[in-house]
Amino acid sequence: MQSADDLPIGDRPKVIERAQARREASCSGVGEADGRVARLNRGIGRRILLASTLDQIDYGRGCDRGTGMDEPRFLVDTYLEWVAREGIPVVEDFGLDLLGVETAPWARMGGTARGAYVHVKGRGDFVNAYVCELPPGGQTDPQRHLFEEVVYVLAGRGGTTIEADDGTRHSFEWGRGSLFALPLNTRYRHFNTSGREPARFAAVTSLPLVLNAFHNEALVFDNPFSFAERIGDERFFRGEGEFLPVRPGRHQWLTNFVPDLGGFELQAWGQRGVGSSNIKFVLADGTMHAHMSELAVGTYKKAHRHGPDFHIFPVTGRGYSLLWYAGEQDLRRIDWQHGWVYAPPDQIFHQHFNTAPSPSRYLAVAFGSIRYPFSSDKRTLFGDGVDKDVAQGGRQIEYEDEDPRVRAMFEAELRRHGIDVDPRLAETWTRAEAKRRGELVAARG
Ligand SMILES: [Fe+2]
Repeated sequence: MQSADDLPIGDRPKVIERAQARREASCSGVGEADGRVARLNRGIGRRILLASTLDQIDYGRGCDRGTGMDEPRFLVDTYLEWVAREGIPVVEDFGLDLLGVETAPWARMGGTARGAYVHVKGRGDFVNAYVCELPPGGQTDPQRHLFEEVVYVLAGRGGTTIEADDGTRHSFEWGRGSLFALPLNTRYRHFNTSGREPARFAAVTSLPLVLNAFHNEALVFDNPFSFAERIGDERFFRGEGEFLPVRPGRHQWLTNFVPDLGGFELQAWGQRGVGSSNIKFVLADGTMHAHMSELAVGTYKKAHRHGPDFHIFPVTGRGYSLLWYAGEQDLRRIDWQHGWVYAPPDQIFHQHFNTAPSPSRYLAVAFGSIRYPFSSDKRTLFGDGVDKDVAQGGRQIEYEDEDPRVRAMFEAELRRHGIDVDPRLAETWTRAEAKRRGELVAARG
């Protein structure tokens, strides 16, 4: 590989400048206000084309190799430097339609795989996302790496084979709406089992965390250590699992593979909203988190806030989300359906609304699970904060404290779609209004 020192002297400043611009390229902003509600849907995210010269630069693959550049290295993001060498598109936006993201041949995945990296505004410091497409009958080369990966299938049908270091092989077949994890540092390979349709899946991985911690690719991609305990029960690759009841909002399903998120049985979680249900997944005993929530017809979830990196993938139905920072008057809005992804940025209040004539489900994938929270923010969130009133020190806004515009917009959206408000929600609104007026305060004595 050619280093920066090998380039003609006259080219170096421009190349370095472009490389720095690449590293400093930031995600698009949360969005300029468009009246009182800023719409964040922009179609496909901005595509960042890689300059051919960038592919030829060796920035150093480890701290011991140096850069070959005259400039002192500081404020280094090893992950972003690595991404710039991958040779596939990097798309950046607040949120975007993954079904429409343009992909390119992906040498790392090998075979006939195509890919693109996806950096959403709220991805945080620890995780990234990508989309991978396999043409009909296509496949990847075998992969192995020291970071966790949770895969959500967007379209098509295929299969994955996982091989443990003891030679044990596990294979399972997936389709649209499947969810699975790749056990840490096992060898795996994906196949498109259709001869006619392409298969496309998205993944959220902890590569940024690992690369920025060790800045050494060999440790990440050529590491023989076996995490045998991560493989789990053979049943976990057949779509079976273990239900671990805890309490509403903390119930868990232990597995490696969920064949169909759309058909998975959820558990009621009324404290997050009328008609709300949920399950927390523990996948391959990983630190990566996944959960799925459902909004009943004619309902929405209460607003709450937390740290970044929850990548939200709508699974069924359709709806929109409102987002705002504490104290702000302008509401940001993003409309979503299957194929979209976005991540609420750090500590922004966000609230999800179902406008479909059927229940709407979404998958959320992040770093720091209910079993292994990793950060104090996740520990607090999954402990008591997620569904506790902000007035009590929690993260959630109760119905009686909602901005009246939230309800007005939802009612208007339902009317537009010819859908009635869930009668349980209408009753709850009435009680909330009474409480707001203080009538219940007097009743309590
Ligand atoms: Fe959230």
